[in-house]
Amino acid sequence: MKIPFKVDLTGKTAIVTGGSGTLCSAMAYGLAVSGAKVAIIGRNKDKLNNVTDELINNAKTEYSKDIVVKGYSCNVIDKEELNKSYEIIKSELGSCDILINGAGGNQPGAITSIEMLKKEKGENDYSFWNLDEDNIRDVMDLNYMGTLLPIQVFTKDMVEKRSGSIINIASVTSILPLTKVMAYGNAKSAILNLTQWLAVHFGESGIRCNAIAPGFYAAEQNHALLFNEDGTYTDRARKIVAGTPMGRFGNPEELIGAALFLASDDAAGFVNGIVLPVDGGYSAYSGV
Ligand SMILES: NC(=O)c1ccc[n+]([C@@H]2O[C@H](COP(=O)([O-])OP(=O)(O)OC[C@H]3O[C@@H](n4cnc5c(N)ncnc54)[C@H](O)[C@@H]3O)[C@@H](O)[C@H]2O)c1
Repeated sequence: MKIPFKVDLTGKTAIVTGGSGTLCSAMAYGLAVSGAKVAIIGRNKDKLNNVTDELINNAKTEYSKDIVVKGYSCNVIDKEELNKSYEIIKSELGSCDILINGAGGNQPGAITSIEMLKKEKGENDYSFWNLDEDNIRDVMDLNYMGTLLPIQVFTKDMVEKRSGSIINIASVTSILPLTKVMAYGNAKSAILNLTQWLAVHFGESGIRCNAIAPGFYAAEQNHALLFNEDGTYTDRARKIVAGTPMGRFGNPEELIGAALFLASDDAAGFVNGIVLPVDGGYSAYSGV
């Protein structure tokens, strides 16, 4: 993967939740190649091991570099587990300077089957009313609480250090709702509000809080929404590409530049409370 520019993160410790996933493993790689010691957090130990091995090997072949990336299995909505993991991370890699909150996703039970009610009665008219309450709570929990709790646990030492960068992973649906994915959009919108709230709350402290809003990237969590069983685009995927002025999905490595910029005090020392879309122009386009 290509690191677009050099920033020096030597001496920094980064924690990346969801770091074994499609988008955040790329950002974790960018931080590690730039010198940070990186802890990636996910739930599946085997996946964490595979991703850390892959990133370490890639750095060797692509940059002739030994990087520090370690996996920690932990549920981001369980504060006790987060506290335990942080104690281990601190003893192995040091206290957190950079936090990327990327763990997140959606659930089939929290998606309406139709985009909009039509003038005429249709057979799935009640799909909004039938959304599963537990699935909605799960999506709100994972995305919102799964961002808030890691901030509470992992950034306490930033207060002592009077320095730190928090990067929340929002979405284009934080800015303008997408059809069908109601709870996911609601939660991502709350993440944007939280980012701005924290940017103000941390004020002069030296801790910065910003968000990245990725557009559309093909990943594990949205695979069924984007691809038919034969690998062709679903109608929704075709609509997304048509709504993206650059006419394509993003590649995860295209997020690395945004993450490095926001992580670096040298590059973004006065950047606080922004949401940076990396979406091929999706959020700028009205569709007309
Ligand atoms: N893929 C996209 O197009 C897109 C667009 C906008 C925003 N996002 C956001 O980017 C982030 C990463 O998404 P992705 O597409 O790489 O998905 P992904 O499914 O590949 O990665 C998500 C990661 O989160 C981890 N995770 C999920 N629940 C967890 C929990 N309770 N505790 C700890 N880890 C947990 C998973 O193990 C996985 O590694 C998510 O927040 C997602 O909402 C993705």
